[in-house]
Amino acid sequence: MKAYITKQFGSPEVLTLTETDKPKPKANELLIKVMASTVNAADCNLRGQTYIPSGMGFLAKLILGFKKPKTAVQGSVFAGEVVETGNKTKEFKVGDKVYGTGSHLGGYGEYICRPETGAISIIPENLNFEEAASVPYGALTALYFLKDLANIQKNQKVLIKGAAGGVGTYAIQLAKYFGAEVTAVCSSKNVDFVKSLGAHKVIDYNKEDFSESEEKWDVIVDIVVKKTSFKKYKNSLNPNGYYLAIAGGITDMLQMLKTSFIGSKKVKFGGGESCEKRSNLDFISSLLQETKIIPVVDKVFPFEEMVEAHRYAESGSKKGNIAITIQ
Ligand SMILES: NC(=O)c1ccc[n+]([C@@H]2O[C@H](COP(=O)([O-])OP(=O)(O)OC[C@H]3O[C@@H](n4cnc5c(N)ncnc54)[C@H](OP(=O)(O)O)[C@@H]3O)[C@@H](O)[C@H]2O)c1
Repeated sequence: MKAYITKQFGSPEVLTLTETDKPKPKANELLIKVMASTVNAADCNLRGQTYIPSGMGFLAKLILGFKKPKTAVQGSVFAGEVVETGNKTKEFKVGDKVYGTGSHLGGYGEYICRPETGAISIIPENLNFEEAASVPYGALTALYFLKDLANIQKNQKVLIKGAAGGVGTYAIQLAKYFGAEVTAVCSSKNVDFVKSLGAHKVIDYNKEDFSESEEKWDVIVDIVVKKTSFKKYKNSLNPNGYYLAIAGGITDMLQMLKTSFIGSKKVKFGGGESCEKRSNLDFISSLLQETKIIPVVDKVFPFEEMVEAHRYAESGSKKGNIAITIQ
């Protein structure tokens, strides 16, 4: 099968299209023909360690690899069709259209094997493969932080900093779905875009620093890498408010430990595999099916233009998500 192999860390050019063996499913696995994937911050990290938060370099290397990537075939998301099932699988059948995510996944190859208990769900009928591929990374991250960690409630005020990106575009929609009053923070060029996703109020960070106003929020979602700071934003939180450091680093991790013992305002930090819950993806699928939320795809690139897609992802021009048509 065709797949992008990455033998060294570096700029997008390290992604090399090559022929490799088609995987075989184990007893508990599904063989999936991958139709679409994506390029998100996790993919850029797998390839080039581009979005590593301050102080997390060693931990990132431990997870991603020291000298070369631990995962040869990268791609953190897949959308495709089940073509074979292991003899102990029960929940999916050949022909099911499925999408999902997972660590060290291999979504940049024409076929992958996934355990059926992983973060896999049936693609809602109203989505094509590219739209489906744009969902799991951002929506699962946003749902995990907003609901599992902060348990957001109706009428709470939620501010999303980094609102126009892969995670932020789903955070706006999910916070609104849960009945929150949403303030989105983005650059001038994205003001109308984030409004169109349902933000009640937009702050253009080129013109205004929200932390200098008197306004307070119940939840601040910070998705801007190397620019997270509980110290800077805690005065903008209501008592008992949450600071969700989605792109947080070592300082945020230490703040989380400290605020779990003292102070009424809490820092929540975490992610990775905990974002990748099957039940959460099923919930997201139901919201998509009912068009309570919509997929956010900026551009679709053909498989052959993977390098250009990675360049675009890192250009700062991306709105929401990029999809890759694999076949
Ligand atoms: N903890 C976890 O499990 C987890 C999961 C997923 C992602 N992450 C991390 O979260 C980070 C963001 O991911 P992403 O996929 O959403 O990235 P992304 O798609 O690149 O989006 C980042 C957004 O930040 C905005 N931005 C830049 N400077 C800003 C500022 N000063 N104020 C407000 N917005 C600003 C940019 O929009 P403008 O053009 O409007 O500036 C951009 O849309 C990455 O570092 C990623 O590693 C963590």
